[in-house]
Amino acid sequence: MSKRLPRVVLTAPVSRLPEELLAGRARVRVLRHRKPLTEERLASALRSADGALTYLSDPVTAKVLEGCPRLKVVANHAVGVNNIDLAAARARGVVVTYTPGVLTEATADLTWALILGTARRAAEGDRMVRRGKFHGWAADLLLGMDLRGKTLGVVGLGRIGQAVARRAPAFGLKVVYAQRSRADGCVEAALGTVRLPLDDLVRTADVLTLHCPLTEETRGLMGRERLFAMKPGALFVNASRGGLHDEAALVEALAAGHLGGAGLDVFENEPALSPGLVGLDNVLLLPHAGSATHETRAAMARMALSDLLAVLEGREPEHPVPAG
Ligand code: GLV
Repeated sequence: MSKRLPRVVLTAPVSRLPEELLAGRARVRVLRHRKPLTEERLASALRSADGALTYLSDPVTAKVLEGCPRLKVVANHAVGVNNIDLAAARARGVVVTYTPGVLTEATADLTWALILGTARRAAEGDRMVRRGKFHGWAADLLLGMDLRGKTLGVVGLGRIGQAVARRAPAFGLKVVYAQRSRADGCVEAALGTVRLPLDDLVRTADVLTLHCPLTEETRGLMGRERLFAMKPGALFVNASRGGLHDEAALVEALAAGHLGGAGLDVFENEPALSPGLVGLDNVLLLPHAGSATHETRAAMARMALSDLLAVLEGREPEHPVPAG
């Protein structure tokens, strides 16, 4: 008698589905949708699934998990796992995996695209040219900020924060960092960086970039008070999670001319944007594309699916989300 293959749901297509990995090991259903899935749609799609490959926009809540009695594993195709109720998953014995490491360099590169693009007003210049507003070279046209000699404040010196800091010497910036506990001395030495209390870093940095996970502790970390405590003219960059900053207060700080600019790859209520944000010239806005390269997305899909199959086949996954 042939054995029943586990049912696996991919909540959206992955880039370059590794068919050979799945062949003969799972029955796969791929969901296709334009808008982020609601709890109800997700629960209904996963009702009889043994495993799910999910994305950072999928609300894997306690309610969803409750409605999926067969589910053994949720493989999140992301390094951030704030879309999953980890405690509820643990309580139900559902293993949660994620994709650390493979997207570090791509995300650090995109962070620098935001830093450079914001410092040199790239999006504003692009809009100017497209709209036929470029009337010829002028000595005072689109002046930006030199990065050389300035201070980069990295909030969260994990894998991605370190990769961002590693690129800073190429652009002549000094790096300071803030995080709950001090980084390893070798890491500090290799990056030539020192740790500051967050409020000191906020007052010191010419460019501040966020690289921490979104948790109950870090939600709203860059609130109104901290945004207005930043140096006048400083640049604010976030390619981690929108919930780390107060977007309405950021709009206020930019509109008031307190901050020089912002580069955002993430938003507080994705895909919705705070009123006033798109009307500002001094912002560069990207659609949560930190890991969006062909190579990185293929590596993420492979990692997530390998871990998913491992759990379904009774093996330990290589990338379980560490216990909080
Ligand atoms: C991207 O934001 C991720 O968490 O992988």
